[in-house]
Amino acid sequence: MSTHIGARPGDIAPTVLLPGDPLRAKWIAETFLDDARCYSEVRGMYGFTGTWRGQPVSVQGSGMGQPSMAIYVNELFRDYDVQSIVRVGSCGAVTDEVGIRDVIIASGACTDSSMNRIAFHGLDYAPVADFGLLRGAVEAAEAREGGSPFHVGLIFSSDSFYAARPELLGEMVKYGVLGVEMEASGLYTLAAKYGRKALAICTVSDHIVTGEETTSQEREQTFGEMVEIALTAALA
Ligand code: ADE
Repeated sequence: MSTHIGARPGDIAPTVLLPGDPLRAKWIAETFLDDARCYSEVRGMYGFTGTWRGQPVSVQGSGMGQPSMAIYVNELFRDYDVQSIVRVGSCGAVTDEVGIRDVIIASGACTDSSMNRIAFHGLDYAPVADFGLLRGAVEAAEAREGGSPFHVGLIFSSDSFYAARPELLGEMVKYGVLGVEMEASGLYTLAAKYGRKALAICTVSDHIVTGEETTSQEREQTFGEMVEIALTAALA
């Protein structure tokens, strides 16, 4: 058992899907996996292992924000020898180019977090997705008939959902940022640190420009599409 995950070595598959919400982890396991078994309930941050099309896969909740996510991701890479992590989450759209319920496949992630600044002594590290996972996700999204529109580009991983200076995001939008969430930047940096693979895919749950929000039913449907894209990218 690691400090925050109640699993024995071998309980967790080499490929992990990482939703922020532990109840989404349960829903993914029940909806998409065969023979799913819960390996951890520590702090209610559920983790499950099962199979998808015969291949082993785990789903682990990460909590919200980079500090929480980094606890689980460090332990997955360091203590359970996980090779690939695909975050499946939600984000807010910050540009008219992106619609509510669209999917954003994050090629890279900017951040206001001090975690990287401290790790790199004030230099700016550019956290990027694993190219193979990114390509796999784009191909999977392209192959879906009638699927939600998807975008590939930068997201912004914020330390605050309720930002003190939301206007600062406007500068990022001018430089190509499509959406805001709270975890991808730290995930990509940790994958680089451990020499592993990571990708973040997000469905747009709210639109910061238009003020639109999704219903819980809409969120579940587009979340399901994104999970299929993630499983195909990581395992097909
Ligand atoms: N996740 C979903 N919507 C978000 C938002 N508006 N800001 C930060 N994270 C989010």
